[in-house]
Amino acid sequence: MGRAERGTETGLIEIFRTVEELRSWTRAQRSEHGSTVGLVPTMGALHAGHASLIRAARRACSQVAVSIFVNPTQFGPNEDFAKYPRSFEQDCALAEREGADVLFVPAVEEMYPAGGETVVDVERLSRRLDGRSRPGHFRGVATVVAKLLIAAEPEFAFFGQKDAAQVAVIRRMAADLRMATGIVVCPIVRDADGLALSSRNAYLSAQERAQALTLNRAIQRVESLVARGERGASALIAATGEVFAAEPAVRMDYIELVDWATLETVNTAVPGSLFAVAAWVGKTRLIDNTILQ
Ligand code: PAJ
Repeated sequence: MGRAERGTETGLIEIFRTVEELRSWTRAQRSEHGSTVGLVPTMGALHAGHASLIRAARRACSQVAVSIFVNPTQFGPNEDFAKYPRSFEQDCALAEREGADVLFVPAVEEMYPAGGETVVDVERLSRRLDGRSRPGHFRGVATVVAKLLIAAEPEFAFFGQKDAAQVAVIRRMAADLRMATGIVVCPIVRDADGLALSSRNAYLSAQERAQALTLNRAIQRVESLVARGERGASALIAATGEVFAAEPAVRMDYIELVDWATLETVNTAVPGSLFAVAAWVGKTRLIDNTILQ
């Protein structure tokens, strides 16, 4: 197995390519230094949203590992796996700047050994919200996150509320498999104009970037209606539909008010309910959400 390399641009952060290297490192941190290890799983193309997770891990844990792995099994056959943005040099620099101690950057064969046939399927949750529009997506996510948590054995792993359905799937998986890792969820980081940061925003033209604000506009509309006392799912969904109708270039995928744990639709919003939207802006699928107060 290859020795740890150093990021070429900064020359400092340590990079592991194999599960064995990562696991030896986390075990040594724990036994020799009494450290707590935090893991931040990512697919790279790191932005300020990812940075916020690394900083949260930095605050909670004495050692922080960031994984960068564009996971093929969570992309559908007609999705953007091949063209998913990859910016390894910049990612090394960002991770290091935000205080990560090591990077885990495995090859596909390292995460999916030849002959492998084991998957993790959170059966019902995986078919809700994005899972309904993207069959197999959450099975790929749950499988790779399980592999990462088994590889790193972190005390805590950090995820963004931006992908709220993913959070529900991962929490369910961690509870069902009695995993030892605590799942920590961090708030959505947005651009100044409200667009939720996403690696996929890189696909948007200037015109699409402006149209993409429709998602956040819909979320803000729901938040203000809830603040004024509206609780009914049909009223909230209808108001969101109007926001989307005003921007015909944006093709709505779903608008849902659900229980965040079960992802089942609810008729009445309660504190903690998840209001989530997904829409196509040109060829780019974007999501946004709010957890209602
Ligand atoms: P990726 O899209 O790279 O996101 C990595 C983590 O960053 C996820 O937990 C995601 O929710 C979080 N994140 C993305 N945008 C954010 C934002 N604007 N604010 C806060 N957090 C944000 O999600 C994945 O990768 C993959 O599915 C993964 C979990 C790594 C499994 O392959």
